[in-house]
Amino acid sequence: MNIAVLVSGGGTNLQNIINAIDSGELKYAKIQAVIADRDCFAIERALDKDLDIFLLERGKNLSKEIQEILSEKNIDLIVLAGFLSILSGDLCVQWKGKIINIHPALLPKFGGKGMYGARVHQAVLEAGETESGATVHFVTPGVDEGEIIVQGTFPVEEGDTVSDLQQKVMKVEQKILIDAINKISSDHSDITG
Ligand code: GRF
Repeated sequence: MNIAVLVSGGGTNLQNIINAIDSGELKYAKIQAVIADRDCFAIERALDKDLDIFLLERGKNLSKEIQEILSEKNIDLIVLAGFLSILSGDLCVQWKGKIINIHPALLPKFGGKGMYGARVHQAVLEAGETESGATVHFVTPGVDEGEIIVQGTFPVEEGDTVSDLQQKVMKVEQKILIDAINKISSDHSDITG
């Protein structure tokens, strides 16, 4: 299964996918394109691995340019791994069931437009939650609203800070993103043989 990984930031999730492919934990996936909407450290990680990288400009042509890369590279699955731009509704509809996102909280809580990075963890702390986690879900035109594929949780402890939650969520994300891709890619290989 050919995957495109879309990034905007540090690329820890991209790195997790790379490592899982290298270790054989992710058997059926191959990264055919890394697409960034800004200069970011994730690009360095892709360069290190000699992956095909596309650095695009944000703005109204972004989704169209992404579509072109997806068809040129014969992509089967799009993974939004810390990708901050919002894709067009058309793209999300066209790729229904073949585009996933990882979100650093337990959706449907703490999601939606503007809920990313530290803001999510801040909101979790302000709400006095005793548990948080991460979610991998299918992407639909409504931000963070698509069907949930996998969730992982961790306890929020007394005195935890935003940075504590960031550390804990990274561990959970490492596992659930690979689980989700494995699930989708083994279904895909059952179909394509
Ligand atoms: C993760 O917390 C993920 O849940 C969110 O953005 C962060 C990605 O960071 N969507 P990275 O670029 O993979 O390091």
